[in-house]
Amino acid sequence: MRTILAIETSCDETAVAILRGAELLASEVASQTEHEAYGGVVPEVASRNHLVHAPRLLETALKKAGVVLAEIEAFAATSGPGLASSLMIGASIAKGLALGAGRPYLAVNHLEGHLLSPFFGRDEEISPNVSLIVSGGHTLLVEVRGVNDYRVVGRTVDDAAGEGFDKVAKLLGLGYPGGPEIERRAANGNAERFDFPRSMLDSRDHNFSFSGLKTAVRYRLAEFKAEAVTPQLIADMCASFQAAVIEVLVKKTLRAARECGEKLVTLSGGVSCNQALRKEMAERCGAAGIRLLTAPPRLCTDNAAMIAFAASLRFQAGQSSEVSEEIDPNLALV
Ligand code: KG4
Ligand code: ZN
Repeated sequence: MRTILAIETSCDETAVAILRGAELLASEVASQTEHEAYGGVVPEVASRNHLVHAPRLLETALKKAGVVLAEIEAFAATSGPGLASSLMIGASIAKGLALGAGRPYLAVNHLEGHLLSPFFGRDEEISPNVSLIVSGGHTLLVEVRGVNDYRVVGRTVDDAAGEGFDKVAKLLGLGYPGGPEIERRAANGNAERFDFPRSMLDSRDHNFSFSGLKTAVRYRLAEFKAEAVTPQLIADMCASFQAAVIEVLVKKTLRAARECGEKLVTLSGGVSCNQALRKEMAERCGAAGIRLLTAPPRLCTDNAAMIAFAASLRFQAGQSSEVSEEIDPNLALV
């Protein structure tokens, strides 16, 4: 059984995981709340925090896994895309550990971590599928033919879906990250009160746009006097905004699956924690005779288990990276 330790520090989550074969022995995540006051991630604050959290999480993960460093057969880290100063922390630690232990180092693409996460913990091959990755930094539709055999068929032309949730939450005076808070408020809201735009729903390509939707929320909100901005109004805006995002994501994913001739759809990334999105995607896939695989919510937001899983597939295939391999903030999936 191969034992792999992975570190994820691409943005503001510090995470360490230890995977033995298919068994996840430990998966530690420390989220940073310091950024809330700024309404977004401050790179230097994030990297300083990684430097504090990562060693502590390493110790805890090893203890929880009941493993000593000498038993780890490969060390992996996210090498991009992400914030340069954040990526450097995790990659430096993993490289140092690999060098110290005389074991291989594996550089992992964060997007591949998300993309493969729906298969994690399932006893099945990575079979061809159309994958929707929806996170704070990315909105991608990918035709997956197997591990490392990807074709990006659609992407956002402006804001990522999660970025849309975060920016709209900020407009509405809600906390960061915005997704979970918008989902919570939307549960008590009327999704039909505001008819927000479904941008690019009928475009011929598989691309997305969420910037106009955010602007529409801003303009509608500005029509109300301060005293009229009640919790119910906020809930209705959240529900209407969320419904617009979900409709576009679900319809365009199904259209891409149809065009690619795939009978399997996978859903990953932080926004895929959203229960309303999961429900709508499941219903539409079911009606179209398409199977849907989603990762459990703890594997949807940033974590190191997905990085360890992607690394394990590479390692099993006899691959590893040079310790001189650079991080790449703009690393593409293909
Ligand atoms: O995958 P992730 O943890 O980090 C990136 O790689 O970007 O995704 C974070 C994003 C944030 O924008 C957050 O608002 C969004 O995922 N998110 C959600 C929910 N939970 C997290 N969006 C909608 N509904 C949620 N329940
Ligand atoms: Zn992510």
